[in-house]
Amino acid sequence: MDFMEFATKNLSRLDPGFVAALEKWLRKIPSVNREIESQYDSLLGSAEEGLKPYRKDFTSYDRLPPTGRDREEILDEMVALKAIEEGRWKDGYVSGAVYHGDQEHIDFLNQVYALHSQSNPLHADIWPSTTKFEAEIVSMTAQMLGASSTSDEIGGTVTSGGTESILLAMKTYRDWARQHRGITRPEMVVPVTAHAAFDKASQYFKIKMVRIPVDDKMRADLDVARRAINHNTIVVVGSAPSFPHGTIDPIAELSELARRKGVGFHTDACLGGFVLPWAEKLGYPVPPFDFRLPGVTSISADTHKYGYAAKGTSVIMYRGAELRRYQYYATPDWPGGLYFSPTFAGSRPGALSAACWATMVSMGENGYLEAARKILETGAAIRTRIETIPDLKVLGDPLWVIAFASDTLDIYRVMDFMTGRKWSLNGLHRPPAIHLAVTLRHTQPGVADRFIEDLMAAVEYVQANPAEQGGMAPIYGMAGTMPLRGVVSDMLKRYIDLLYKV
Ligand SMILES: Cc1ncc(COP(=O)(O)O)c(C=O)c1O
Repeated sequence: MDFMEFATKNLSRLDPGFVAALEKWLRKIPSVNREIESQYDSLLGSAEEGLKPYRKDFTSYDRLPPTGRDREEILDEMVALKAIEEGRWKDGYVSGAVYHGDQEHIDFLNQVYALHSQSNPLHADIWPSTTKFEAEIVSMTAQMLGASSTSDEIGGTVTSGGTESILLAMKTYRDWARQHRGITRPEMVVPVTAHAAFDKASQYFKIKMVRIPVDDKMRADLDVARRAINHNTIVVVGSAPSFPHGTIDPIAELSELARRKGVGFHTDACLGGFVLPWAEKLGYPVPPFDFRLPGVTSISADTHKYGYAAKGTSVIMYRGAELRRYQYYATPDWPGGLYFSPTFAGSRPGALSAACWATMVSMGENGYLEAARKILETGAAIRTRIETIPDLKVLGDPLWVIAFASDTLDIYRVMDFMTGRKWSLNGLHRPPAIHLAVTLRHTQPGVADRFIEDLMAAVEYVQANPAEQGGMAPIYGMAGTMPLRGVVSDMLKRYIDLLYKV
């Protein structure tokens, strides 16, 4: 039995606080560390080949080529790489990741990008077109998310993605609360299913994370949230919907709790911001989640997901101009001149904002409505058919991000089988499950049928071969249950090291 198995078997039932202390102590013992390191090497060694498929047939550069290469030759090589990778997502084998992907749409975005590839919103004087695009992206998104029916002004900024939107919002609440409420030991109340970006914010900005469990419908537990709010709470969070299970937290109730206590409330609509407004219009059961709720003080919504823009944009919005200013950075004293920036970055790719704006105005309300209709119909069909597969169960009450688990089978072996049939699904844990985030790629004829056929074959295969070993299943299983969580985090960091290995 190796160290990881030993720890998983023997420490799982112990108190997590005790295990964390034990882990710190164990990591000081050189022989234990050596054993853990060798396990990292063997686990990651097998991943390396899959992650670096181009070493054999393409030139690798660990330093600059002494003389610049021919442009045509470089382009040929890039076209070859694109051709290898594109089929899988274009044909709808991938969960999430590419949300639109029609060739005409991509060609249009590329044209816009080419027109604006030199622009930088940091230089608003040189490229006022970029600031026009960004102001309008924020306004159009805010209007879509209920801004018009409230008396408060809703303002925001364009960011580089969902994570940046969330990080900025948490920093904003921290700084606002320090100034207005004198809070020096800030806490955030966050459902366990909220995106990892909230945990990142907690680590980056030293905000204590107070976790709220979810109920059997995978929605944040209101009673625990009520008890968790205290005089150090700066913000309460809910997802619309959550990444893992696609379920919408009780945002009306949570935001009202926050409002009554004078605390901010952030709706993370990174995934749902560009689907739910249209789902509501189409008559789907969408609980309130946006600025129409008076307690919702900020929303993140990702243009680069179901907004169908190119990767690299999201929108963060706040209730009230004053709150938004706590996000900004400005310094009057730098020898480099008067300097200010709305988000974390300094210089930013204006072309991405241009492409985002062009996407939004080319889609229009009718485009988003039609896209949502297709995605929601496909999501409902896939969900209903998963529910008929014996041994699988759908988690929560999802609309288009469908998570499923099994009480009888190793769900990660089901995922391994699906990977063998080209699918790229998301492995979840706590509880072990997998999900498919339905995009426009899955609304192409035949894709949903193929998914269900392959899933049925996967279940039959795992039922017939219950003891088979290998694949990613043991690694997923171990990563979810291993009580030494620092070891798992370290392994993930080694994985990042591997990504940056030439
Ligand atoms: C609900 C939710 N919030 C935040 C994020 C983070 O977005 P990004 O990957 O763009 O940083 C995601 C990503 O999937 C998400 O699903």
